[in-house]
Amino acid sequence: MNKKQILAWLYEKDKKKLEQLFFAANEIRQKYVGNDIHLRGLIEISNYCSRECAYCGIHKSNNSIQRYRMTSKEIIDCARLAKKFKYGTIVMQSGEDLNIKAEWLADIIYKIKKETSLAITLSLGERSYNDFKIWKEAGADRYLLRFETTDPNLYKIIHPSKSIETIRQNENKLNINPRIFILKELRNIGYAIGTGVMVGVPGQTYDTLANDILAFKEIDIDMIGVGPYIEHPDTTLSINKININNQVENTDEMTYKTIALTRLACPESNIPSTTALSTINKKSGRKTGLLCGANIIMPNLTPLIYRSKYEIYPNKYGIDLNAEDINANVVNLIKSIGRNIGIGAGHRTKNHIHGLKQT
Ligand code: 5AD
Repeated sequence: MNKKQILAWLYEKDKKKLEQLFFAANEIRQKYVGNDIHLRGLIEISNYCSRECAYCGIHKSNNSIQRYRMTSKEIIDCARLAKKFKYGTIVMQSGEDLNIKAEWLADIIYKIKKETSLAITLSLGERSYNDFKIWKEAGADRYLLRFETTDPNLYKIIHPSKSIETIRQNENKLNINPRIFILKELRNIGYAIGTGVMVGVPGQTYDTLANDILAFKEIDIDMIGVGPYIEHPDTTLSINKININNQVENTDEMTYKTIALTRLACPESNIPSTTALSTINKKSGRKTGLLCGANIIMPNLTPLIYRSKYEIYPNKYGIDLNAEDINANVVNLIKSIGRNIGIGAGHRTKNHIHGLKQT
């Protein structure tokens, strides 16, 4: 897939032709990662945040939400629930909460790993190199950090606050997306790395989105999460204020296209059908994502008392459902499309065509 082809598909509106794209992506998914859908139980451990990301509902200065940080016992109980539901992975996610101390979380990671041997994914924002190392040594396996955009100007507009220690003490790397820099650090430490973008974030052009998809491949990302941008009323970013040519639409269809093109560009990567996609199309968003290239679902395990407080965007799917109900829905959905629930950690495999090892 070259950029010209990606762009042509992103602009394509003909439903019949798009069916061909989705079919091809589904075939490639089947061939490279098989029919298993791996489940990653999401635990939203804290909504405190020290950043002002322009798109995000839990940004620091949003005073209309109540902040919480789960206790270690609450987090470990969620991990036990993941084990009970036979998930292979838990994902601990939070705002960029600097009061999550490295040692405190390391202890939780260590205990969960020891008791459950689940794969552990972290998604805690831009932290110090040392924190990343401590958590890896405690037993974490993977780290998610969406780079959000490869366009340096757009990156600056939507991330107004700071950049990681001015790109880890600079060395003229100021125009680098700090998150791409961090992803490479994380990989060197030994994490499997995940990233992604929002489809249709204000300021994103077709050209930018095509570059983002190519960057997933170039950086060789293990896990790629893409979901539609959903406007949050407590943020300043707004599609109505944007006046650029070629703004990408934040629709479900554009998200399906992005998932399909990402699968074709990165056949072996793990790609979730995201909660944001289920949010804008409650009826069939998640299912359609799975049918056009995705192979992962991240069911929410966060206790209901906290769920509504982790509102990065409004009307989040599952906000009123407990972990049992969400799990039942997910299991039914997987059965209904004739796929299997993945057993085990579901790590990304390399150079592997399903069922037969490549030389
Ligand atoms: N709409 C859609 N996705 C969002 N995210 C944050 N805010 C929004 C929003 N308003 C995504 C970002 C972030 C991930 C955790 O959630 O891409 O990296």
